[in-house]
Amino acid sequence: MTQERCIPSHVAIIMDGNGRWAQQRSQLRAIGHRAGLKTVRKIVAYAAELKVKVLTLYAFSSENWKRPSSEVSALISLFIYALNREVKSLNKNNVRLNIIGDISRFSDHLQNMIIHAQNLTKHNSGLVLNIAANYGGRWDILQSAKKITMQVTDGKITLDDITEDRFSSTMCMSEFPEVDLVIRTGGEYRISNFLLWQIAYSELYFTNTLWPDFNQTLFDEAIDAFNARERRFGGIHNKEHSC
Ligand code: FPP
Repeated sequence: MTQERCIPSHVAIIMDGNGRWAQQRSQLRAIGHRAGLKTVRKIVAYAAELKVKVLTLYAFSSENWKRPSSEVSALISLFIYALNREVKSLNKNNVRLNIIGDISRFSDHLQNMIIHAQNLTKHNSGLVLNIAANYGGRWDILQSAKKITMQVTDGKITLDDITEDRFSSTMCMSEFPEVDLVIRTGGEYRISNFLLWQIAYSELYFTNTLWPDFNQTLFDEAIDAFNARERRFGGIHNKEHSC
């Protein structure tokens, strides 16, 4: 099975369930996020090994600011910790790190760390690791609409020039392959304002496993399920697109 199966080029993951994982152990939710970071490490390494081209992880949504300030601080501290600790090793492993989202709301210190990490790894040719931080699918569509509107008001393009392709080109991740597979852990069946425009034709896979318990075997199961799907992209079965 492993040798014949098709590896999706772009996998996006909603890493849900850290809080419940911690609560089940009578621990603080922040402990669950820390355990979640360990899973991130393992899954990034495994995705690179499988030759997934792009892995996109939903780390901090634009709605997460609504959580208690202690949890928001814990999540942001963890992000800073992870950037500090992991960037060198990501770079050594030829991973290109890219942050998607409105980073302007973060402290100058964190913004500088993000810029430094992106610059350091930008020429790497291995796995692209997108971390969605202060990201929202609606925000992404809105920022794209604003860019396109500017192009029209500046007289660079006309209304008729606004095609799906042009619109896509100003969305986050336009330079990467389309999202093939979205995985959500934690047992909820929704998208929660993660990628919206970009997942029009993606396969969706949901598992009850809480993110800290997610592992290589479960990632394999998601890929096997992806392989069992027939992707038609709104048309009829097409062998070229059967992966
Ligand atoms: C959802 O679980 C998870 C998050 C809001 C944050 C995800 C963060 C990590 C996995 C660790 C940090 C990652 C990086 C890349 C620095 P939840 O808190 O909603 O869990 P619940 O549904 O059980 O309450």
